[in-house]
Amino acid sequence: MEIRIVPISEGEKKAKYTDESQLGFGRIFTDYMLLVEWKAGQGWVDARIKKYEPFQIDPAALVLHYAQEIFEGLKAYKWEDGTIALFRPEMNARRFNHSAERLCMPEIPEELFVKGIEQLVALESAWVPGSEGTSLYIRPAMIAVEPHVGIKPSDHYYFYVILSPVGAYYAAGFNPVKIMVEDKYVRATPGGTGEAKTGGNYASSLKAGLEAKKKGYDQVLWLDGVHKRYIEEVGSMNMFFAYGDTIVTAPLEGSILRGITRDSVITIAKSLGLKVEERKIDVNELMQDLKSGKVTEAFGSGTAAVVTPVGTLCYADETVQVGNGGVGKHTQKLYDTLTGIQTGKIEDKFGWITKV
Ligand code: COI
Repeated sequence: MEIRIVPISEGEKKAKYTDESQLGFGRIFTDYMLLVEWKAGQGWVDARIKKYEPFQIDPAALVLHYAQEIFEGLKAYKWEDGTIALFRPEMNARRFNHSAERLCMPEIPEELFVKGIEQLVALESAWVPGSEGTSLYIRPAMIAVEPHVGIKPSDHYYFYVILSPVGAYYAAGFNPVKIMVEDKYVRATPGGTGEAKTGGNYASSLKAGLEAKKKGYDQVLWLDGVHKRYIEEVGSMNMFFAYGDTIVTAPLEGSILRGITRDSVITIAKSLGLKVEERKIDVNELMQDLKSGKVTEAFGSGTAAVVTPVGTLCYADETVQVGNGGVGKHTQKLYDTLTGIQTGKIEDKFGWITKV
């Protein structure tokens, strides 16, 4: 499908950030966005790259009442030689369509998803920051815009992509965060929407997150919704634990997100000679293993979070330090290798890079 560009004048453009060290996460947006509509009986129509501006949607739009919404997150990097590179965008397209299927939304052709992002990022290349730890965060989303207060799948959708130059997701940067294992609320249950990247999963996690913040923790680590016993994920990242040279992570059984960074970390870990186990992790055993020193490192993985070391874990009011509370050697190596590939400093042996 042809994507038309609706140009904006120089006068309409925003003032660009001046200090890359002050970007933070997700507050600054570029001048243009991609918008494609889907209409029942017509399919995908009117793909255009246009001015980033507020939508006018009907107060009765289905998304506003029943949360028929999905989204993705990926990044573009500026290399030292000026190349702009995307990391595994086709994986985001596939996961987006997986979420769409669960939320009864139309699937988008993978090519339209990837080409649309490539064209938008190419047009906005001046917004891609280049200093260490920065990138252009890409947020594709789809919302149901049909005005209707009866519950049903919409007959009209907006698929759109916005861009945000970012630094580290956590204010601490690449430094250990403090995580609280959540034992009161649950995020997802088998057969629910846990595996889909849909706003409702995040809205329902806010309360637990706020309560954890009040106690001094950065985020919560969810347990399975049936037994409240097995480790699932942190809202913005999948979790890994190192037992010496073995890295353990929860299996993908339907209630946790199929992290693309998770998959990349597993592949890199294996290529570095580490053993990787995807298996159920009982929180009680985990706490024992942390206390006895069997667990030497803990870290999370995600597009926004990259590889984030975890220095402290709290469960049932008991707090334990992970290893020596600092950044573990495997965590550091995995972070360096992943970000090295993303920024063109390490050869991409896996075919993960798409140049814009
Ligand atoms: C991402 O890592 O891209 C995410 O979507 C997590 C988040 C910021 C909610």
